[in-house]
Amino acid sequence: MCGIVGYIGTQDTTEILLQGLEKLEYRGYDSAGIAELNDEGVHVTKVKGRIAALRSEVEKKDIEATMGIGHTRWATHGAPSFENAHPHQSASGRFTIVHNGVIENYEEVQREYLANVEMNSETDTEIIVQLVENLHNEMGDVQEAFRKAISLLKGSYAVGIIDAENPDVIYVAKNKSPLLVGLGEGFNVVSSDSLAMLKVTDQFVELEDKEIVLVRRNEVEIQKLDGTQVNREPFTAELDASDIEKGTYPHFMLKEIDEQPFVIRKIIQEYQNENDEIKLDPDVRQAMMDCDRVYIIACGTSYHAGLIGKQFIEKLAKVPVEVHVASEFSYNMPLLSEKPLFVYISQSGETADSRAVLVETKAKGHPALTITNVPGSTLSREADYTLHLHAGPEIAVASTKAYTAQMAVLAILAVDTAKAKGIELEFNPMKELGIAANAMEALCDQKEELEQIAADYLSTTRNCFFIGRSQDYYVGLEGALKLKEISYIQAEGFAGGELKHGTIALIEEGTPVVALATQANVNYSIRGNVKEVAARGAKPCVISMKGLDQENDAFVIPQVHELLTPLVSVVPMQLISYYAALHRDCDVDKPRNLAKSVTVE
Ligand code: F6R
Repeated sequence: MCGIVGYIGTQDTTEILLQGLEKLEYRGYDSAGIAELNDEGVHVTKVKGRIAALRSEVEKKDIEATMGIGHTRWATHGAPSFENAHPHQSASGRFTIVHNGVIENYEEVQREYLANVEMNSETDTEIIVQLVENLHNEMGDVQEAFRKAISLLKGSYAVGIIDAENPDVIYVAKNKSPLLVGLGEGFNVVSSDSLAMLKVTDQFVELEDKEIVLVRRNEVEIQKLDGTQVNREPFTAELDASDIEKGTYPHFMLKEIDEQPFVIRKIIQEYQNENDEIKLDPDVRQAMMDCDRVYIIACGTSYHAGLIGKQFIEKLAKVPVEVHVASEFSYNMPLLSEKPLFVYISQSGETADSRAVLVETKAKGHPALTITNVPGSTLSREADYTLHLHAGPEIAVASTKAYTAQMAVLAILAVDTAKAKGIELEFNPMKELGIAANAMEALCDQKEELEQIAADYLSTTRNCFFIGRSQDYYVGLEGALKLKEISYIQAEGFAGGELKHGTIALIEEGTPVVALATQANVNYSIRGNVKEVAARGAKPCVISMKGLDQENDAFVIPQVHELLTPLVSVVPMQLISYYAALHRDCDVDKPRNLAKSVTVE
């Protein structure tokens, strides 16, 4: 989704802004631009397309400036185009804005305050900068005009505005959309996330919703909307700049697939004390003990992890669990139990759909736990408790290591709750996770075989189905999502038993059907489904587990505890999706139309 950077200091701003935007590319975007301010005025450069194109445009201009703002846009209001790309300027050109989010009342604001202003774009963003200019014309003070404009906006926003007549400040505000201010010696920066500015600083200040921030070279002034000053300590971003480099890998996705065994081992280390017992925030344990039902809220891949988490929590801790897609929850809010605990699963911690549910359920007084890879994120800050995934930054748009980390943390949470409830378990999560990590590592060494499977089954197909039963069905959903998002093959996951209730009509001669067979109790039935689709011309690709494997299975994963098979069986799904995308010449790390951090509802 849209990303923002800003710099005000003494160094040449062009390279800092461009490098910052390059680091935000992973979020997904379709146009980009920067605005720089120097003695000659504001210089806006923008393009439809990639940062590389923006870089070559900017380099032609050879601008020297020490302050500026930049943006990557993921289109919401108005198509991806030069006109709709940010930055946008006010009618006189005095004010220039970058914005992330959606202004819900933009038509209303336009009608009421800007009826005579001609708009140059189809964006909701432009009304903000035109509004600031109009209010400034009335009020005569930029800060007050900015404050008033922000107070009139409804919706989500993170904005950075520069004033051509004042090179000493970037005006910043946010509501619901993520934005951080980074601190340096003689300079300060603004950024949608810490990754983008990690090269220049690791000290960041979080901003609260509806705060106004004046970012100057030697000072950052945070105010509430009513003008009250706010003092907030910075935090240190615990990231290594090398975490966000590809190193020798051709793509972040491949690097992140390979990192999975290490992430699982890191989770074991982080969630275990010196007596080999589970180490978990006692408040989280208490919240799990106090609730009579868990409601897992998530989107996409994180939702798929939630489906597996439900199995862990119900089977091990005997607590009933419902799993809901965040964007649907409010329309069909179920009758809640007496003591619900809401668990938000989100890699980024910024997903607007999940946040909307969090805001709604918090307002009703229900406790919230966020399981996220980004502890300082919005969902983490706004929930009562957080469990950290420790997966390191996930840059590829297609989530891989966060998914397996989410399942590992959910397994640990389930076992911890079971133990706290006095339930005797034979399942030792740390030992079994260690075995799963070794199995994942072995699979990462079988890339050539998996590349061949992708070539044989997926390089030219229009569609592909994933089938499974029980846990394998949920992993199939994730396999289908991975394949469709990066290779654009129409892929769907189905429960094996549902095939004959309609889906089997889609099977044609040569349709690839990836069947998962890692669960002993359903092995016979899923094998039956494989025969049914094969009899109708499908090309089955069976991925089974050692001990349950049969002749002609396309790929066999090592044996792991049956509860943890999803952590392992998803690895071949990720790798065949990756290679299918490569074979089809797709941009693996930046699939079309997708954004990493989905910060609009
Ligand atoms: C798919 C993918 C998405 C995300 C979804 C939720 O590979 O990454 O489906 O899982 O957008 O994002 P988070 O987990 O950040 O809330």
